[in-house]
Amino acid sequence: MNITVVRFDPTKDKEPYESTYDVPWFERMTALEAVAYIYENHEPIAFDYSCHGRSCGRCGMTVDGEPKLTCIAPISDGDHTIAPLKGYPVIRDLVVDQSGVQKLTSRLYNRVQTHTLSKDEINTFDMENYEKIFQISWCTRCGRCTSDCPAVAADPEYVGPMSMLATAYRYYDINDQADRVVEALNNGLASCIQCGNCTTVCTSKELDHVTYWKQILAEAKERGLHSDL
Ligand code: SF4
Ligand code: SF4
Ligand code: FES
Repeated sequence: MNITVVRFDPTKDKEPYESTYDVPWFERMTALEAVAYIYENHEPIAFDYSCHGRSCGRCGMTVDGEPKLTCIAPISDGDHTIAPLKGYPVIRDLVVDQSGVQKLTSRLYNRVQTHTLSKDEINTFDMENYEKIFQISWCTRCGRCTSDCPAVAADPEYVGPMSMLATAYRYYDINDQADRVVEALNNGLASCIQCGNCTTVCTSKELDHVTYWKQILAEAKERGLHSDL
C-alpha cells in the first residue's frame, strides 16, 4: 500500500510537503507500525510514541483526516495519508509542540485551597461526582480532542476539551475550593457547541465529556454568570 506522509522541517522547509512510501500491509497492522516501517526502511521521518498501548498519549497523528491514537489505530490495506495533529505547531514531520496546552492543563489540575472534610461532608459526599473524577482520570492527555474541536477552531479563547477536563476534574473534587464554574467560563467553555466530537475521537471510552460540559454550564446559567447561557 502507499502511505503519504505530510512532512515539514521548520528549520529548512518553507512549507509542508508530501512524501509517498510503499509499505507492505499485514493483518492487524496499526498506523504507528506503518510509520515505523517507513522510518526503518525508507528514511528517518520524525514521529513520537512510547507505550504502544493507549497509556502515554504521545502517538497522536491525523490519519486520513481523523485524529488517531496511532498505536491502537488499525490501518486497512490501501492508500492512506498521515499528517501531524491539527492545531499545534509542527516541530518536525509528525511531531507537534503541545507544551503550551500541556502546561496549562497541568496548572488547571492543581487543587486550590484544599481543606479537611468534615464528618457531614464525608457522609453526604455524592458518589456520582467520585465516578466522574474516576472517568476523567482515564484521559491520557494525548491532545486529539482539542486538535479536532470545532469550538477551539472558532474561538481562540477556548482552551479546548483536554484542558477543560482538568477544570471538570476539580469541579467534581469536594476538596478543591476554587470556583471552577467561573474558571470554565473564563477559559471559554461557553463556546462549546456540545457536538460530542471530543467523545467520538477519544479512545478512553470511560469519559463522557458532554455530560461534564452540560453540568458546569447549567450551574453557570443557574448562577447567572453568562449572558448567552
Ligand atoms: S479526553 Fe481523550 S482525546 Fe482528549 S486528551 Fe484525553 S485521552 Fe486524548
Ligand atoms: S463537545 Fe464542545 S468541547 Fe467537545 S468537541 Fe464539541 S465543541 Fe469541542
Ligand atoms: S504510544 Fe502511548 S498511547 Fe500510543
